[in-house]
Amino acid sequence: MSVQGEITLPGDKSISHRALMFSALGDGLSRLENLNPGADLKTTQTALSNCGIEITEKKSVVEVQGGGLRPFRQPEHPLYCGNSGTTTRLMLGLLAAHPIHVQFNGDDSLHKRPMDRVFRPLQQMGANVSARDRKYLPVMLSGRDLWALDYELPYASAQVKSAILLAGLHARGQTTVKSPAYSRDHTEQLLKAMGARVTVKGRQVSIKPLTKPLKAVDLTIPGDFSAAAFFITAALLVPDSDLIIRKVGINPTRIAFLHAVQEMGANITIANKEKHFGEAVADLRIRSSNLKSIRIHPEHIPNLIDELPLIALLASQAKGETIVRGAAELRVKESDRITSIVSNMSAWGSKIFESEDGFSIEGPTTLRGGAVKTFKDHRIAMTMGVAGLISKLPAVLDNSTCVDISHPGFFEELRNISS
Ligand code: S3P
Repeated sequence: MSVQGEITLPGDKSISHRALMFSALGDGLSRLENLNPGADLKTTQTALSNCGIEITEKKSVVEVQGGGLRPFRQPEHPLYCGNSGTTTRLMLGLLAAHPIHVQFNGDDSLHKRPMDRVFRPLQQMGANVSARDRKYLPVMLSGRDLWALDYELPYASAQVKSAILLAGLHARGQTTVKSPAYSRDHTEQLLKAMGARVTVKGRQVSIKPLTKPLKAVDLTIPGDFSAAAFFITAALLVPDSDLIIRKVGINPTRIAFLHAVQEMGANITIANKEKHFGEAVADLRIRSSNLKSIRIHPEHIPNLIDELPLIALLASQAKGETIVRGAAELRVKESDRITSIVSNMSAWGSKIFESEDGFSIEGPTTLRGGAVKTFKDHRIAMTMGVAGLISKLPAVLDNSTCVDISHPGFFEELRNISS
């Protein structure tokens, strides 16, 4: 078996959420092409519709009718955010200054994820928010006038940074967020492209309140780099592979995984670079490679946070000891991803060891394959699905539909390119 062919991938999930939300504040009709088709995006779409935003789907294009500076109306029901932390956190910031009362709800996993990291700074801006145990969903928000904030984030989180910047769009004065490390900057890029007054100085971002609506956009969303990472891993690990992935987003704040695998010895070439609305896009060609171990340093963690389960898999096939530290944030993702990946990989015979804020792995080891406990986490299901291409026994997942969160059709695509 080898991994061969040419593929394009669903639109970037982070950019898709932002494109939908920011278009709501637009001065006309925004046309969004290649929006991520996953369940998390449907969640954002429905939440916005419930707040009065008109969204229509026409073949491969989603159209959002911008409602100007004050587009939101009182939703009739609680906003159900499903499995999506990005929907919840960004919508909290987006709605905080609008005169509506909103209850945010979600699935079991979302009910376990901390929301105080977002609403504490929003409360400092004057937002009226309450939550179960002052931390978790359900969260109640009553929108009202906000003042600006100068905020130092205790950890690098793009969701929290974005929520504060979105609230800042309607606050009195200039809002500034400082991050301890770089996190993905899609909010800054897209808001700037749509005419918001955003200034970036290193890890510090400032935003001035809107005086007019954002400019409506005609935007093609780049392929999702995090989705690409699964196929990159498959092509690197399966012998005699040669795969091309077209039009993938290669925003520098997202591709620490690419740099990490290149340092491990990956044979990847990048071609046809372009830039749209501040976002770089390129074609990637990946060929099977012999890998060596790597140390992932804490400052790079935010730029490959969603790809760390794949680093564990790659490290299990690389020569030497790989060490990941400073990744405690993984414990509050859709599942506790340190425990999820360590338990699955060690059940398959990998020499992987869990620590409080990461893991270490000695490679290479032959993987046994067999049962997979996904914890209903899309990225764990996809990682172990890729692992199943090189294990002795095939992967048998306890839940395969969870991949619909970010990439419906993932397993079909994986089957199509591996024969
Ligand atoms: C995201 C930011 C990251 C990432 C998540 C999407 C975003 O989370 O893990 O999948 O779109 O802003 P944090 O902001 O919690 O680091």
